[in-house]
Amino acid sequence: MKVYICEICGDAYIGTEKPHDCPFCGAKDNFIKLGSEAKPIVNEKIEISELSKKNLLETLKLETEANAIYLCMAGHAATYEIKAMYKRIAKVELEHAAIVTKLLGMQMPEINPETCADVDADNFKRTIELEDHAVELYKKFAREAEEDNIRKFFGAIMQAEAGHAELIKSYL
Ligand SMILES: [Fe+2]
Ligand SMILES: [Fe+2]
Repeated sequence: MKVYICEICGDAYIGTEKPHDCPFCGAKDNFIKLGSEAKPIVNEKIEISELSKKNLLETLKLETEANAIYLCMAGHAATYEIKAMYKRIAKVELEHAAIVTKLLGMQMPEINPETCADVDADNFKRTIELEDHAVELYKKFAREAEEDNIRKFFGAIMQAEAGHAELIKSYL
């Protein structure tokens, strides 16, 4: 068994091989390193520009809302598989929010419940819209970031959200 650390969320994965994607934040395996070699972005004290701060706060709002929306969708899912999938995606979005709070050195805000449809098909459609929107936004935020760590963060979560959209499309 070995300890692997994700450089995006800073969480440790214990196993015989490194996972293909981070099970916590969904970052691709190029961000996952052996524990002794990893330099997690949340562990570095960095100066954050006003623009990146603004973009991170918008990300926090988006991610906490997504968490609540996906928990609602999990509650309305027709099968255990869909319920479990939405619960997992909700946790990944919450992890993204948690990374932002660490980068900004702030507390996690209170998360208000959100509404969703009763039918999976409608929730799938909305999920794809939400994820596609997040991908476009994070692409822009990555371009705007002057800080290496922030650029890395937006690049990594952008890929994670694109993966969510791909997954949902496979159910259509
Ligand atoms: Fe991670
Ligand atoms: Fe996310």
